[in-house]
Amino acid sequence: MDIIYHGHACVQLVHEGHSVMIDPFLTGNSLATVRAEELEAEYILLTHGHGDHIGDTEAIAKRTGATVISIVELASYMERTTGVKTVGMNLGGTVEVPFARFKMVQAFHSSSITTEDGQIIYMGMPAGFVIEMGGKTVYHSGDTALFGDMKLIGDRHSIDVAFVPIGDHFTMGPEDAVWAAEWLKAKLTVPMHYNTFPPIRQDADSYIAMLAKRDIHGRVLKSGEALTL
Ligand code: NI
Ligand code: MN
Repeated sequence: MDIIYHGHACVQLVHEGHSVMIDPFLTGNSLATVRAEELEAEYILLTHGHGDHIGDTEAIAKRTGATVISIVELASYMERTTGVKTVGMNLGGTVEVPFARFKMVQAFHSSSITTEDGQIIYMGMPAGFVIEMGGKTVYHSGDTALFGDMKLIGDRHSIDVAFVPIGDHFTMGPEDAVWAAEWLKAKLTVPMHYNTFPPIRQDADSYIAMLAKRDIHGRVLKSGEALTL
């Protein structure tokens, strides 16, 4: 399986011609090396309703016919407002597709959409995903603070690659993300959600060095870079 990082929280999983996109924010993502029009997807997983995560979902789903999978409130909003196909699910549940399994787990964050007239619409709980695909397990935490049940997620699942935010300000920062990596016990930890906007500027290499001090294997993926498992 190839895991491609597109900057921010946008991760693409490709295995035997199947493509899954998580949080496809490309237009307006200062780190993206591809345009939304260049990407193929059969499923789009959304961790929550913020604009830097929904991103280009509508355009990609309409062009490719991809199904959007998210928490029920966000799924029903997307289906009603854009007409894209959705599957709504909730925390703890797993959705199986022919080539993968997507389990939704909790995240500690917020989730809403602000309308043009300033109304804030609740989009359900924010989430992370534990994805089994191509014989590997990938955890994408979504936007989140550090929370103790990352320990549970790490005990419950044998994670090959974990994507964790290090940007701080809107999510946990690097020091908390070291604790997250320790609890998740992934074979490889990859930082995300940093350097896209000024308030989330971070030195990812120093995060990897902090992990190495604790014998945790981390790696920075540059935007557009693929990791082959
Ligand atoms: Ni967010
Ligand atoms: Mn975000």
